[in-house]
Amino acid sequence: MITIKSKTEIEKMRVAGKITGLTLVEVSKHIRPGVSTAELDKIARDFIKRQGATPSFLNYNGYPANICASVNDAVVHGIPSKDIILKEGDIISIDVGAYKDGYHGDAARTYGVGKISDEAARLIAVTKQSFFEGIKNAVHGAKLGDISAAIQEYVEDNGYSVVRDLVGHGIGKKMHEDPSVPNFGHYGRGVKLASGMTLAIEPMVNVGEYDVVVLDDDWTVVTEDGSLSAHYENTVLITKGKPEILTLYDEV
Ligand code: MF3
Ligand code: CO
Repeated sequence: MITIKSKTEIEKMRVAGKITGLTLVEVSKHIRPGVSTAELDKIARDFIKRQGATPSFLNYNGYPANICASVNDAVVHGIPSKDIILKEGDIISIDVGAYKDGYHGDAARTYGVGKISDEAARLIAVTKQSFFEGIKNAVHGAKLGDISAAIQEYVEDNGYSVVRDLVGHGIGKKMHEDPSVPNFGHYGRGVKLASGMTLAIEPMVNVGEYDVVVLDDDWTVVTEDGSLSAHYENTVLITKGKPEILTLYDEV
Protein backbone atom coordinates (compact mmCIF):
# COMPACT_ATOMS: atom_id res chain seq x y z
CA MET A 1 0.00 0.00 0.00
CA ILE A 2 1.32 3.40 -0.97
CA THR A 3 0.82 5.99 1.75
CA ILE A 4 0.06 9.65 1.06
CA LYS A 5 1.62 11.79 3.75
CA SER A 6 -0.38 14.47 5.50
CA LYS A 7 0.93 17.99 6.06
CA THR A 8 2.12 17.12 9.57
CA GLU A 9 3.80 13.95 8.35
CA ILE A 10 5.54 15.88 5.58
CA GLU A 11 6.84 18.35 8.13
CA LYS A 12 8.36 15.46 10.10
CA MET A 13 9.84 13.97 6.95
CA ARG A 14 11.48 17.31 6.22
CA VAL A 15 13.13 17.18 9.63
CA ALA A 16 14.33 13.57 9.22
CA GLY A 17 15.44 14.38 5.68
CA LYS A 18 17.44 17.39 6.77
CA ILE A 19 19.29 15.40 9.44
CA THR A 20 20.04 12.72 6.83
CA GLY A 21 21.32 15.24 4.29
CA LEU A 22 23.43 17.07 6.84
CA THR A 23 24.93 13.78 8.01
CA LEU A 24 26.27 13.23 4.49
CA VAL A 25 27.76 16.72 4.53
CA GLU A 26 29.44 15.99 7.87
CA VAL A 27 30.80 12.59 6.77
CA SER A 28 32.05 14.00 3.46
CA LYS A 29 34.31 16.45 5.30
CA HIS A 30 36.26 13.49 6.68
CA ILE A 31 36.78 11.55 3.46
CA ARG A 32 40.51 11.49 2.67
CA PRO A 33 43.30 8.94 2.21
CA GLY A 34 44.08 7.12 5.47
CA VAL A 35 40.64 7.27 7.06
CA SER A 36 38.87 3.98 7.77
CA THR A 37 35.23 3.40 6.94
CA ALA A 38 34.66 2.56 10.63
CA GLU A 39 35.75 6.12 11.50
CA LEU A 40 33.22 7.48 9.01
CA ASP A 41 30.55 5.29 10.58
CA LYS A 42 31.29 6.75 14.01
CA ILE A 43 31.17 10.31 12.67
CA ALA A 44 27.73 9.63 11.19
CA ARG A 45 26.44 7.95 14.34
CA ASP A 46 27.62 10.77 16.60
CA PHE A 47 26.18 13.43 14.30
CA ILE A 48 22.77 11.72 14.03
CA LYS A 49 22.57 11.28 17.80
CA ARG A 50 23.50 14.92 18.40
CA GLN A 51 20.44 15.86 16.32
CA GLY A 52 18.25 13.76 18.61
CA ALA A 53 17.69 11.18 15.89
CA THR A 54 18.45 7.47 15.50
CA PRO A 55 20.45 5.83 12.69
CA SER A 56 17.86 4.02 10.55
CA PHE A 57 20.18 1.29 9.35
CA LEU A 58 21.57 -0.05 12.64
CA ASN A 59 20.01 -3.47 13.29
CA TYR A 60 17.77 -3.17 10.23
CA ASN A 61 17.40 -6.85 9.23
CA GLY A 62 20.48 -7.37 11.40
CA TYR A 63 22.63 -4.75 9.63
CA PRO A 64 25.60 -4.16 11.97
CA ALA A 65 26.44 -0.47 11.37
CA ASN A 66 25.07 3.07 11.08
CA ILE A 67 25.97 3.77 7.46
CA CYS A 68 26.79 1.76 4.37
CA ALA A 69 30.28 2.53 3.03
CA SER A 70 30.89 0.92 -0.35
CA VAL A 71 34.32 1.34 -1.96
CA ASN A 72 35.13 1.09 -5.71
CA ASP A 73 33.47 -2.08 -7.09
CA ALA A 74 31.16 -2.22 -4.05
CA VAL A 75 27.72 -1.06 -5.16
CA VAL A 76 25.85 -0.74 -1.85
CA HIS A 77 25.62 -2.17 1.69
CA GLY A 78 29.37 -2.14 2.37
CA ILE A 79 29.85 -2.71 6.11
CA PRO A 80 32.17 -0.13 7.68
CA SER A 81 35.38 -1.62 9.04
CA LYS A 82 38.55 -0.40 10.72
CA ASP A 83 40.39 -2.54 8.20
CA ILE A 84 38.98 -0.74 5.16
CA ILE A 85 41.23 2.29 4.81
CA LEU A 86 40.62 4.78 2.03
CA LYS A 87 43.43 5.52 -0.38
CA GLU A 88 43.99 8.15 -3.04
CA GLY A 89 41.97 7.38 -6.18
CA ASP A 90 39.25 5.32 -4.47
CA ILE A 91 35.60 6.18 -4.80
CA ILE A 92 33.29 5.62 -1.84
CA SER A 93 29.52 5.53 -1.67
CA ILE A 94 28.06 6.61 1.65
CA ASP A 95 24.43 5.69 2.32
CA VAL A 96 22.74 6.90 5.50
CA GLY A 97 19.32 7.03 7.08
CA ALA A 98 18.07 9.03 10.06
CA TYR A 99 14.89 8.33 12.04
CA LYS A 100 13.30 11.21 13.90
CA ASP A 101 9.86 11.63 15.45
CA GLY A 102 8.52 8.52 13.73
CA TYR A 103 9.82 9.13 10.20
CA HIS A 104 12.86 8.15 8.14
CA GLY A 105 15.14 9.97 5.72
CA ASP A 106 17.40 8.01 3.34
CA ALA A 107 20.16 9.39 1.09
CA ALA A 108 23.45 8.43 -0.55
CA ARG A 109 26.34 10.02 -2.41
CA THR A 110 29.51 8.76 -4.04
CA TYR A 111 32.70 10.72 -3.29
CA GLY A 112 36.20 10.62 -4.70
CA VAL A 113 39.14 10.13 -2.35
CA GLY A 114 41.83 12.64 -3.27
CA LYS A 115 42.54 12.71 -7.00
CA ILE A 116 40.46 10.16 -8.94
CA SER A 117 40.55 8.93 -12.54
CA ASP A 118 38.55 10.70 -15.26
CA GLU A 119 36.44 7.56 -15.63
CA ALA A 120 35.59 7.51 -11.92
CA ALA A 121 34.69 11.20 -11.99
CA ARG A 122 32.49 10.70 -15.04
CA LEU A 123 30.74 7.74 -13.38
CA ILE A 124 29.96 9.83 -10.30
CA ALA A 125 28.65 12.71 -12.43
CA VAL A 126 26.50 10.50 -14.66
CA THR A 127 25.01 8.69 -11.65
CA LYS A 128 24.10 11.96 -9.98
CA GLN A 129 22.66 13.46 -13.15
CA SER A 130 20.58 10.32 -13.78
CA PHE A 131 18.76 11.04 -10.51
CA PHE A 132 17.99 14.57 -11.68
CA GLU A 133 16.84 13.28 -15.08
CA GLY A 134 14.54 10.84 -13.24
CA ILE A 135 12.96 13.40 -10.96
CA LYS A 136 12.03 15.63 -13.86
CA ASN A 137 9.19 13.11 -14.11
CA ALA A 138 8.52 12.86 -10.38
CA VAL A 139 5.34 14.91 -10.49
CA HIS A 140 1.70 14.43 -9.57
CA GLY A 141 -0.09 12.58 -12.38
CA ALA A 142 2.99 11.05 -14.02
CA LYS A 143 3.70 7.32 -13.88
CA LEU A 144 6.36 5.66 -11.78
CA GLY A 145 7.84 4.17 -14.96
CA ASP A 146 8.49 7.69 -16.24
CA ILE A 147 11.07 8.14 -13.48
CA SER A 148 12.60 4.69 -13.99
CA ALA A 149 12.85 4.98 -17.78
CA ALA A 150 14.42 8.45 -17.67
CA ILE A 151 17.13 7.22 -15.30
CA GLN A 152 17.88 4.15 -17.40
CA GLU A 153 17.93 6.10 -20.65
CA TYR A 154 20.38 8.69 -19.36
CA VAL A 155 22.72 6.09 -17.85
CA GLU A 156 22.74 3.85 -20.91
CA ASP A 157 23.14 6.79 -23.30
CA ASN A 158 26.32 7.52 -21.36
CA GLY A 159 27.59 3.96 -21.81
CA TYR A 160 27.03 2.67 -18.28
CA SER A 161 24.57 0.17 -16.83
CA VAL A 162 21.90 0.35 -14.18
CA VAL A 163 21.81 -2.25 -11.42
CA ARG A 164 18.69 -4.41 -11.68
CA ASP A 165 18.76 -6.37 -8.42
CA LEU A 166 18.34 -3.35 -6.12
CA VAL A 167 15.75 -0.61 -6.38
CA GLY A 168 14.49 2.54 -4.69
CA HIS A 169 11.40 2.55 -2.51
CA GLY A 170 8.65 4.45 -0.78
CA ILE A 171 9.70 5.77 2.62
CA GLY A 172 8.01 7.22 5.69
CA LYS A 173 7.16 5.55 8.99
CA LYS A 174 9.14 2.61 7.65
CA MET A 175 12.40 2.90 5.73
CA HIS A 176 11.09 0.63 3.00
CA GLU A 177 7.50 1.19 1.93
CA ASP A 178 5.61 0.63 -1.30
CA PRO A 179 6.16 1.21 -4.14
CA SER A 180 9.43 -0.26 -5.39
CA VAL A 181 11.19 2.35 -7.52
CA PRO A 182 13.35 0.60 -10.13
CA ASN A 183 16.04 2.53 -11.99
CA PHE A 184 14.99 0.86 -15.23
CA GLY A 185 11.61 0.48 -16.91
CA HIS A 186 9.20 1.90 -19.44
CA TYR A 187 7.56 5.28 -19.87
CA GLY A 188 3.84 5.30 -19.16
CA ARG A 189 3.88 2.19 -16.98
CA GLY A 190 3.47 1.60 -13.28
CA VAL A 191 1.45 3.36 -10.62
CA LYS A 192 0.33 6.94 -10.96
CA LEU A 193 2.29 9.39 -8.83
CA ALA A 194 0.35 11.63 -6.47
CA SER A 195 1.31 14.59 -4.35
CA GLY A 196 2.12 13.52 -0.80
CA MET A 197 3.99 10.37 -1.86
CA THR A 198 7.54 10.18 -0.53
CA LEU A 199 10.04 8.11 -2.49
CA ALA A 200 13.70 7.22 -2.04
CA ILE A 201 15.00 7.42 -5.60
CA GLU A 202 18.44 5.87 -5.84
CA PRO A 203 20.21 5.01 -9.08
CA MET A 204 23.09 2.51 -8.70
CA VAL A 205 25.29 2.64 -11.79
CA ASN A 206 28.13 0.36 -12.95
CA VAL A 207 30.85 1.17 -15.47
CA GLY A 208 30.61 -2.41 -16.76
CA GLU A 209 27.74 -4.88 -16.76
CA TYR A 210 24.78 -4.54 -14.43
CA ASP A 211 25.25 -7.91 -12.71
CA VAL A 212 26.06 -7.87 -9.00
CA VAL A 213 26.96 -10.46 -6.36
CA VAL A 214 26.83 -10.44 -2.56
CA LEU A 215 30.05 -11.06 -0.61
CA ASP A 216 30.49 -13.64 2.16
CA ASP A 217 29.64 -11.02 4.81
CA ASP A 218 26.06 -11.41 3.48
CA TRP A 219 25.73 -7.65 2.94
CA THR A 220 28.31 -6.08 0.63
CA VAL A 221 27.00 -6.00 -2.93
CA VAL A 222 29.77 -5.81 -5.56
CA THR A 223 29.82 -5.72 -9.35
CA GLU A 224 30.31 -9.20 -10.77
CA ASP A 225 32.84 -7.95 -13.34
CA GLY A 226 34.80 -5.90 -10.79
CA SER A 227 33.98 -2.59 -12.47
CA LEU A 228 33.45 0.63 -10.51
CA SER A 229 30.00 1.47 -9.21
CA ALA A 230 28.36 4.67 -7.93
CA HIS A 231 25.16 5.50 -6.02
CA TYR A 232 23.13 8.69 -5.64
CA GLU A 233 19.97 8.80 -3.54
CA ASN A 234 17.55 11.31 -2.09
CA THR A 235 14.23 11.15 -0.31
CA VAL A 236 11.80 13.03 -2.56
CA LEU A 237 8.31 14.44 -1.96
CA ILE A 238 5.93 14.37 -4.92
CA THR A 239 3.96 17.60 -5.31
CA LYS A 240 1.74 19.17 -7.94
CA GLY A 241 4.77 21.15 -9.10
CA LYS A 242 8.48 20.45 -8.83
CA PRO A 243 9.39 17.61 -6.48
CA GLU A 244 10.80 18.63 -3.12
CA ILE A 245 14.13 16.94 -2.37
CA LEU A 246 14.08 16.38 1.38
CA THR A 247 17.69 15.25 1.85
CA LEU A 248 19.64 17.61 -0.41
CA TYR A 249 21.85 19.84 1.77
CA ASP A 250 25.25 19.56 0.07
CA GLU A 251 24.61 22.19 -2.56
CA VAL A 252 22.42 25.22 -3.23
N1 MF3 B 1 19.63 2.94 2.02
C1 MF3 B 1 19.40 1.55 1.80
C2 MF3 B 1 18.20 1.44 0.93
O1 MF3 B 1 17.86 2.36 0.30
C3 MF3 B 1 19.17 0.83 3.05
C4 MF3 B 1 20.38 0.24 3.59
S1 MF3 B 1 20.05 -1.32 4.04
C5 MF3 B 1 20.61 -1.45 5.61
O2 MF3 B 1 17.58 0.44 0.83
F1 MF3 B 1 20.41 -2.63 5.97
F2 MF3 B 1 21.84 -1.11 5.65
F3 MF3 B 1 19.91 -0.67 6.38
CO1 CO C 1 17.10 3.77 0.01
